[in-house]
Amino acid sequence: MEHSFVSFDKALDLLKHNHVVALPTETVYGLAGNAYCSTTLEEIYRLKKRPHHNPLIVHYESSGSMKRDILLCSKGQEIFEALGAGFWPGPLTLVVPKNPHSSLRSFPDSLGVRCPAHPLMRNLLKNLSFPLGAPSANPSGYLSPTRAHHVIEHLPGVPVLDGGPCHHGLESTIVDLRHPERPRLLRLGAIPFDDIYSFLWEKFSISLEILKPLSTEFQKSLEKKPPKSFFEGTLKNSDCHDFSQFSDEILLCPGLLLRHYEPRKPMRLLKGPTKSLPGEGLLSFGQPYEGFSCVFSLSDQGCLKEMAHRLFQGLHELDNNPSCTCLAVMPFPSEGLGSTLLERLQRGACGYDIKN
Ligand code: TXA
Ligand code: MG
Repeated sequence: MEHSFVSFDKALDLLKHNHVVALPTETVYGLAGNAYCSTTLEEIYRLKKRPHHNPLIVHYESSGSMKRDILLCSKGQEIFEALGAGFWPGPLTLVVPKNPHSSLRSFPDSLGVRCPAHPLMRNLLKNLSFPLGAPSANPSGYLSPTRAHHVIEHLPGVPVLDGGPCHHGLESTIVDLRHPERPRLLRLGAIPFDDIYSFLWEKFSISLEILKPLSTEFQKSLEKKPPKSFFEGTLKNSDCHDFSQFSDEILLCPGLLLRHYEPRKPMRLLKGPTKSLPGEGLLSFGQPYEGFSCVFSLSDQGCLKEMAHRLFQGLHELDNNPSCTCLAVMPFPSEGLGSTLLERLQRGACGYDIKN
């Protein structure tokens, strides 16, 4: 499938002509297209089989170029600018109110916006007259892609600009600034919670609330009763009536409604050393448990940054390894980036009923 790789110039040309291209970012690969063009966005949803109620993040070259699409009150603007200056370009997404005059028609009343740091992505954005709508470049629900070949394997035929392995290996941290006096963390990500918490506390004396991750039970129930998809070009506030069974909290971030990050093979999160199941592969760090038929070490030293960088790579490899029939994960530390890793793994394992 070599033919799916494209050069920088080709990627730029395709994007200018409203085609979809998979691009490297510093977090994970994104499936990108002109955010102002509804048919391009439709193609992204189709390729990913993404439920239409789940909006895409919009990527800009700079916070200045977001001005025409967003609308903030003065307090919101102050916090937005400070966070932008502190963390952009980088793995932070801010959810802010959309400017009603924005040309981003296929988006709800709020936008998730970010300035990515990857030099190829930045260079593309610099040469385009529009921002790029881009979700992670994986089929909806599956593992995120941190290398170009992950995209080639799971979204065959999609042109991919290869930028090497993604630096962070985890998606951006998402902070909701719709109510600036009460910022909320919607998704744990590559920037640890504590970093944003202390930033906001030191600069504005406001604390960052954390939106509780969905319980495993709740996630399982979604499989039986998936939320209705109602995307018709625009997500309107009134459409939220379809979600009457969900609390307002959950509706803050539609992506949390979905089961996510799941390998195809069953996966269990271990609580400690245990007997392996036949054909079970182990995702390890530090000293691996004994008795597992294949082992992927995320970091021999147990360095959290290295573990994050290699997490999806390890899951992809074990998932593709024909001699491995199911996956086990050693118990992760829960501090700092560990909480993001755990959240991804818990969501990835929640669809499977394997007892420890
Ligand atoms: O690092 C990242 O964020 C990567 C790279 C490609 O930028 N993108 C990414 O996109 O992870 P995606 O679509 O896989 O996840 C975006 C999340 C979803 O959970 C979605 O619900 C949430 O962001 N989101 C996007 N726009 C939103 C909005 N207006 N309000 C609330 N949540 C939003
Ligand atoms: Mg994703």
